Amino acid sequence: MKIFRERKAFQQAMADLKRTGKRLALVPTMGFLHEGHLSLIREAHKHADAVAVSIFVNPIQFGPTEDLDKYPRDFERDVRLCEQEKADFIFAPAPEEMYDSNASTRIIEKSLSSGLCGALRPGHFEGVCTVVAKLFNLSGADVAVFGEKDAQQLRVIKRMVRDLDFPVEIIGSPLVRDTDGLALSSRNRYLSEEERKRALVLNQALFAAKQAISRGGLAVAGEVAEAAEFEIKQRCDKLDYLKVLDSDTLQPPDANSREIIILAAAYFGKTRLIDSIKVEL
Ligand code: PAJ
Repeated sequence: MKIFRERKAFQQAMADLKRTGKRLALVPTMGFLHEGHLSLIREAHKHADAVAVSIFVNPIQFGPTEDLDKYPRDFERDVRLCEQEKADFIFAPAPEEMYDSNASTRIIEKSLSSGLCGALRPGHFEGVCTVVAKLFNLSGADVAVFGEKDAQQLRVIKRMVRDLDFPVEIIGSPLVRDTDGLALSSRNRYLSEEERKRALVLNQALFAAKQAISRGGLAVAGEVAEAAEFEIKQRCDKLDYLKVLDSDTLQPPDANSREIIILAAAYFGKTRLIDSIKVEL
């Protein structure tokens, strides 16, 4: 496994690899890898001859009051895990290497990013789209794997790729949960024992809502959403949103909806967690 710190060296090596006719998959991450990230690397191997994992805590997707400085990092452990999963390359640039000091271009997706996390984290998806576009250009990857854990992010990236004709195929990979049901996240590390116990309300409320909608269909979606919201509010410190939406459009579901997604974001202590679950209609 080869580790790159510099943009140009990474770009050159990936171009050389592609010239030999090999298919390359990219797995973008911010590091502090867990089983959710590793499942993406395994998925990536199924679609390509070589897998590159990027590890970069992207400063421009964090708001001024967010957790950029304390975002957990453990590069050596990440390297070991990537090696275990037989990744071929790691790209881990420093922020100054990734962005020129006078960089002034941003990518803005204007529709899917406007609600949910986008509404509560201004500039977040602009930062995500910009860094992911750079990673696509640097790697020249044929395929890139993103987790359903960040359901809105996955849809925004797919839209960007379609709208801007990036020659890359986007694969969505299922959300991986801990044994107790909590969605794995690098941010779970922030939770106290007591907050972690309360945080289980997120997946429990979403699973209950899924079951109710599977049984009762869209007709019960409104009351089910209200019940889930009530449940989560009982145990969280602040609810950002609980929404039942069409899984493709992230708009309220209608008669044409084939799959819906129930999404929630809530604070436990100072930690903001997101979770989501899909329901076929
Ligand atoms: P990060 O939060 O590190 O997540 C990297 C990738 O891992 C994302 O595609 C995310 O959806 C996926 N992932 C995280 N937890 C998961 C879980 N429990 N199950 C399945 N997949 C999971 O998302 C980002 O980084 C950044 O925004 C990034 C795309 C790298 C751009 O900076």
